[in-house]
Amino acid sequence: ERLDGRTFSRQRLLVVANRLPVSAIRRGEDSWSLEISAGGLVSALLGVKEFEARWIGWAGVNVPDEIGQKALTKALAEKRCIPVFLDEDIVHQYYNGYCNNILWPLFHYLGLPQEDRLATTRSFQSQFAAYIKANQMFADVVNKHYKDGDVVWCHDYHLMFLPKCLKEYNSDMKVGWFLHTPFPSSEIHRTLPSRSDLLRAVLAADLVGFHTYDYARHFVSACTRILGFEGTPEGVEDQGRLTRVAAFPIGIDSERFIRALEINPVQVHIKELQETFAGRKVMLGVDRLDMIKGIPQKLLAFEKFLEENSDWRGKVVLLQIAVPTRTDVPEYQRLTSQVHEIVGRINGRFGTLTAVPIHHLDRSLDFPALCALYAVTDVALVTSLRDGMNLVSYEFVACQDLKKGVLILSEFAGAAQSLGAGAILVNPWNITEVANAIARALNMSPEEREKRHWHNFTHVTTHTAQEWAETFVSELNDTVVEAQLRIKQ
Ligand code: G6P
Repeated sequence: ERLDGRTFSRQRLLVVANRLPVSAIRRGEDSWSLEISAGGLVSALLGVKEFEARWIGWAGVNVPDEIGQKALTKALAEKRCIPVFLDEDIVHQYYNGYCNNILWPLFHYLGLPQEDRLATTRSFQSQFAAYIKANQMFADVVNKHYKDGDVVWCHDYHLMFLPKCLKEYNSDMKVGWFLHTPFPSSEIHRTLPSRSDLLRAVLAADLVGFHTYDYARHFVSACTRILGFEGTPEGVEDQGRLTRVAAFPIGIDSERFIRALEINPVQVHIKELQETFAGRKVMLGVDRLDMIKGIPQKLLAFEKFLEENSDWRGKVVLLQIAVPTRTDVPEYQRLTSQVHEIVGRINGRFGTLTAVPIHHLDRSLDFPALCALYAVTDVALVTSLRDGMNLVSYEFVACQDLKKGVLILSEFAGAAQSLGAGAILVNPWNITEVANAIARALNMSPEEREKRHWHNFTHVTTHTAQEWAETFVSELNDTVVEAQLRIKQ
């Protein structure tokens, strides 16, 4: 019998992700403050409310001492969060190394690291070992807190081994795994030395979810081509055991943004921004400072636009919020310098004594400031080279009641499949095409803007994070029931 989402909302949900929705900052030997973590995964998970959920993950800091660990565990418990403590070496090899220097670029089609093959191969081995070890540490914490009947929902590329580790503990555990990045073509995945181990470990889950149908299809192809398993419309089958594979496009808590626009601090920010940028059109980019976000390409397109549209110079400003991320990974450090250099050059070329065309910030904004910025924006630029979904595009749309602004969106973001009809879709590698899209967006008639906005707004407000979570969990419950029925038959 199929139960509905409301019934599931009383079911305990253990949400396991590398990064907890809050990150910890140490204030003293036993005192901590917590702030909301950055990234799409957290933005969506914060919208999942109607479950009895516990979060298990890393708080983003190294806490070597017992006093600190105890105090942090207590502080996190108030937010229903349970920490997994990772030491510096594990963070270096697992998080900076295997997760963010190998899996992240590979899954976004940027390939494996190329410098010094031999060194890479050697460190690859130890990084992979650290990856398995870290996944086992997560499994230990989950196992400690697990109660019969709980649903365990594992998230993202950091935890591909977790389903396997959990099922080894307890084969009755209901385990789902969801990937927040793209899953690349099997031809890309097969370059990874540990390609088979990772696929097998994920297949230990009962249900495997992706943002789009294409990612799910790539995953199934990888399993059939690399492991020789059977791909069926339901998922992947091996010796009579089915792992269900499906697409579950994520959303945001749109109400949270819409309501925020009414509150006083946001209204104050909106006024300030309107005064500051009076007489100029506002263009906005909000990204983690990550190579997949295509920030250099976006800046070059804006430069080309200014080059070719001299009448717009001085009448438009690009506000680029670049949230620092994974700053210990050399590739991210190189990107930061590259972006700064391009911004400097463009401002030098097109700025005046009193105004510059690009305002670039290397930091995050608090929630009221972010909502206000979305609200005053005329054109948002989301030009990721690849992106699992990209929820900045959703957040922007939710806040656009005032302006009915235009979304320029990369066709390589998962969101292109849901917001494609309302946005102007671009190939972010094609600088000329993006420059032309900017001109088109700035000159678009109010009628066309309104029409496009409503298309996107309807989608964003009906496909929410809560609905996403309910659909996934309900499908996971059904999958397990069906598997039990199959065994009985
Ligand atoms: C992406 C990933 C998340 C990650 C986030 C922030 O959205 O899919 O798993 O949490 O980026 O990155 P960070 O490395 O800071 O956790």
